[in-house]
Amino acid sequence: MDTILELQNVSKTYQTADRTLTVLDHISFSVTAGSTLSIVGPSGSGKTTLLGLCAGLDRASSGSVVLNQIPLDKLNEDKRAQVRNEYVGFIFQNFQLLPTLTALENVMVPMELRGEKHIRSRALDLLDKVGLADRSHHYPAQLSGGEQQRVSLARAFSNKPRLLFADEPTGNLDAETSERIEALLFDLNKEAGTTLIIVTHNLELAARTQRIIRIKGGKIIADELTDQAVSKAV
Ligand SMILES: Nc1ncnc2c1ncn2[C@@H]1O[C@H](COP(=O)(O)OP(=O)(O)OP(=O)(O)O)[C@@H](O)[C@H]1O
Ligand SMILES: [Mg+2]
Repeated sequence: MDTILELQNVSKTYQTADRTLTVLDHISFSVTAGSTLSIVGPSGSGKTTLLGLCAGLDRASSGSVVLNQIPLDKLNEDKRAQVRNEYVGFIFQNFQLLPTLTALENVMVPMELRGEKHIRSRALDLLDKVGLADRSHHYPAQLSGGEQQRVSLARAFSNKPRLLFADEPTGNLDAETSERIEALLFDLNKEAGTTLIIVTHNLELAARTQRIIRIKGGKIIADELTDQAVSKAV
């Protein structure tokens, strides 16, 4: 099976005034293309940092990250941005919408960057899918937390990414909206073969993925297949 992402001995440290803080400590794992994976662990254990390194948003202090055969640690920021734009969707824990653009424009940005066609109608369609057709002209500040999260999701879907990273994608949503968003995530995996990597504190959501990696204090403490993987294999 094809490997879409491979980490080898990845560490991330931050230098503070008086000491070196190790946030990720020799993390290694690889991910099969088209699979679904969750990363779980206590607050502060390094999940968001790890996701950022996997997606090429940030650089490891040591070790290697290879995404779709491309060694990210060898690339400069511009090249990594190109790789992200081509292969990666990212749903941020804090949404990271552009405040001066409307919901619709936020969703259009990645498509515009790729010079695609019919982007307005496609962006509207994506907003409709996340239940926000009637909020398309609102600015982020005029949207609730859960609504901003859904715009962020529509934006991440806009390039039909090979890999979708989602940091607490249902963290701010009620049960019903959560279910709708989860369905969209897993549909994208089934229909487009998008590899899903989800950080979550929601163990029910984690159990819907094929594999769960647990991290604590920047180290992997467990890496297990779930019933989903078993039922897919038989
Ligand atoms: N730029 C930075 N400089 C110094 N320390 C940082 C920096 N960014 C993150 N950290 C530290 O790294 C640790 C891991 O942070 P991270 O955001 O990855 O945690 P997390 O597992 O996603 O937590 P949560 O579940 O609360 O979102 C935290 O202790 C945080 O304080
Ligand atoms: Mg986090």
